Formats: sequence, C-alpha cells, structure tokens
Amino acid sequence: MEHVLGLECTICGRAYAAHEVEYVCPDHGSDGTLDVRYDYDRISAHLAGEGWAGSRSMWRYLPLLPVDAEAARSLIAGNVLSSVGWTPLYSAPGLAEQVGLRRLWVKDEGRQPTGSLKDRASAIAVAKAREKGYATVTTASTGNAAAALAGLCAAVGQTCVIFCPRTAPQAKVTQLLVYGARVLLVDGTYDQAFELCLAAAPEFGWYNRNTGYNPYMSEGKKTVALEICEQLSRDGAWRAPEVVLVPVGDGCIIGGVHKGFSDLRALGLIDRIPRLIGVQAAGAAPLVEAWEHDLDPTEMQPAQVETVADSIAAGLPRDRVKAMRAVRESGGAFLRVTDEEILAAIPTLARRSGVFAEPAAAAAYAGLVRGTALGVIGAHERVVVLVTGSGLKDVPAANRAVAQPPVIRPRLADVRQALRRD
Ligand SMILES: Cc1ncc(COP(=O)(O)O)c(C=O)c1O
Ligand SMILES: [Zn+2]
Repeated sequence: MEHVLGLECTICGRAYAAHEVEYVCPDHGSDGTLDVRYDYDRISAHLAGEGWAGSRSMWRYLPLLPVDAEAARSLIAGNVLSSVGWTPLYSAPGLAEQVGLRRLWVKDEGRQPTGSLKDRASAIAVAKAREKGYATVTTASTGNAAAALAGLCAAVGQTCVIFCPRTAPQAKVTQLLVYGARVLLVDGTYDQAFELCLAAAPEFGWYNRNTGYNPYMSEGKKTVALEICEQLSRDGAWRAPEVVLVPVGDGCIIGGVHKGFSDLRALGLIDRIPRLIGVQAAGAAPLVEAWEHDLDPTEMQPAQVETVADSIAAGLPRDRVKAMRAVRESGGAFLRVTDEEILAAIPTLARRSGVFAEPAAAAAYAGLVRGTALGVIGAHERVVVLVTGSGLKDVPAANRAVAQPPVIRPRLADVRQALRRD
C-alpha cells in the first residue's frame, strides 16, 4: 500500500504511519479523528498508466482507497461486496422546476445492496478487518451502518456484533437479524450505544467500525463524490457540480464527500470543490447551531435530540471536526429543516423524481427547498441532492406523509364513484 502515506490528526496535524495507530490520535482521544494521507504523485502516475480499476462499483477507485488492492479484489470476488457503489445519478428536471433550478441531479444511494450509502463505509470495514486479522467487527449505529455491516459481513462469512438504540425502526433491526448479526438493543440513545461499543471493542478484541472513530470510514464514503464527478463527466473530463446537499447526523458522510472532492482536486481531476450544504433536522441540529455561533467543533457538548429522521439523530456528532471543516472550507452552509418539511419532502421527491427516500435522506431535498428559498443556492447552479437511504427502511414514517386510499367494493360503479371523489 505504497500509495498511502499515513494518518494525520484533524486537530493537531500530527502524522502517523498507518500501522502506528488503529483509530484516533493518541493525544486527542476520540475527538482526534484522523485523515488518511495519500501520495498523489504516485497515484497520478498509476492512473496515467492503468486508469481506474474497471468494474462499475466503488472498487473502481481502488487506487485511491486505503486497502490492499489484491486482497480486496480476492475478498469481493463474486459476492455482494463487489456490487457496492456506482449508484445511479438521475437528472431530475421535474424536481428542479419545483425549486426553480435549471440543473438538478439525484444520487440514489437507496440502490446500494443493503439500501443506504453506509455500504460504502462498511465495505471498507470488512476489508480492513480481514487485512488486520480480526475475527469479529463491531459497530454502534442508528440502523443503516449496522445493516450495511451485517449484510456485507454475511456476504463473506465474517462475524459482527451490533449495538443499536432500542428505538431504531423495526425494519432496520429486522434487517440486522435477517443477515444473522449478533444484535444488542441498547436501552438508551445512539450516543450511549456508541460509548458502549467503544468500551466493548477492546474488551472483547473486536475491530471497531464506529463512525467518526475509525479513520477509514470516510474513505469508503468519499467514493460517492468520485462517482458524481465521473458520472457528470463530459468528453472524458470529470466535472464537479456547484453544490451538493448532504443530510448530516454524525457528519461522516459530509466529511467523506469533502475528502473525495479534495482528493480529486489534488489529483487535478477537478478544479474546485463544490459548496457542501449540510442538512440537519431542527430537533437534532447541533452542527447547525455550532456553525451559526462560529463554535470550534471540539467545544461542542452533547445535546438532547428528537426527530422523525432517526438516521440523523446524533446529539454529539462524532465526526464533527471533519463535518465542520467540510462546510467551512467548501464555502457551504448548515441548514435545519423541520420534521414536517422532512415528511413532506418524501412524497415530493418520490413523485417528481421516482426516488423513494427514508426521512433522513429526504431531509437533503427538504434542505434544497429551504436553501433555494433563502437564496443560499442560486437558480443557475448545478446541484446534486444526495439521497442517502431507501424509503423502504422506514415505511411507517412515509405513511404519515401520504393520504390513505379509499376502500371500495369490487364493482365498476364503486370505481366510478371513487374517481369522482378524487
Ligand atoms: C440514510 C442516512 N442519511 C444520512 C445519514 C447521516 O450520516 P452521518 O451520520 O455520517 O452524518 C445516515 C447515517 O446513519 C443515514 O443512514
Ligand atoms: Zn492529535
């Protein structure tokens, strides 16, 4: 893995060799999340010779991923892991019209093997655990990261242990159980499940995949940014959009998206990084508040949170340093949207683009509605909405956003009558 130079603390900037630290900067504890540093000259030279890795999946970006390429290729061969990534990027003129934009795309991460963007990170976790020789991988999760880990572990016969708040939507918990994960439902918040998982991993010798703690998760998530630029390419030249809307809980996705664009700029494949707009639920908006008050993310304190969008209900965002940096350095913004706006976004997005999103994912579109109304996003800009998870993950929430159909007797006369009522 000569293309990986090492790890660097996001707080003190101290550099480590990849084998020196497993998760976070020893001087800064769990605040000290690490960036993965690459030898871009070496990667450029490799790409000039061989190009990307071929397959239409996240693994085509292996030259820019922190895993051993040969080991990864043999691990993913012929199983579900091989189909993570390369999700569709739909042009959505009907949706664009709704918010007064000319060009809008929807990146549909609901099409991942387990139904959310988290597959990109969990795929790297499975590869890393295998590389490092761990028998078991663990994670705390509001549901999707766990489902991703459970499904991808199942694909390669890897054991995993999941810590989920007991309030996670039933469909997400069922998904874990179906994949055969060892599931512990924590009678507490996601933040408490996270702390418990942090304590359990070293105690039982498990590899910890936790978001905002394991430095390699952002690297998996960054592949969505690489794909967007490749999918928008014209005449072989990759192109970045002007704005990307990202729903934010822990902040790992937005940090990863920023890393992806930054890597591409460092390689000279794009010339600027899009403005990243982080969208949080009004009842779970610690990063919006910190951003409005110009707080240093390391000063943030845990907050009580409550929202229909369970996947973005994080009281102390674990990747707050990377998330804040993503928004500040890209000249973006953090926006909050109410639960009502999130629920209303689910059918609008579905009816105008054909993409069914879970509440957290629909929040990105609700953020677009807000952002265009506030003038944060201009009509002429090229915008991508990152739809991070499938609506099938939380059907009861979606059901709150639609009118119930009439029940009729099996007679044509009733059909006629019902149609008249509509
Ligand atoms: C569907 C969906 N959207 C958005 C997020 C937020 O990602 P992050 O916690 O990295 O900010 C998550 C995280 O669980 C998610 O599952
Ligand atoms: Zn440090």
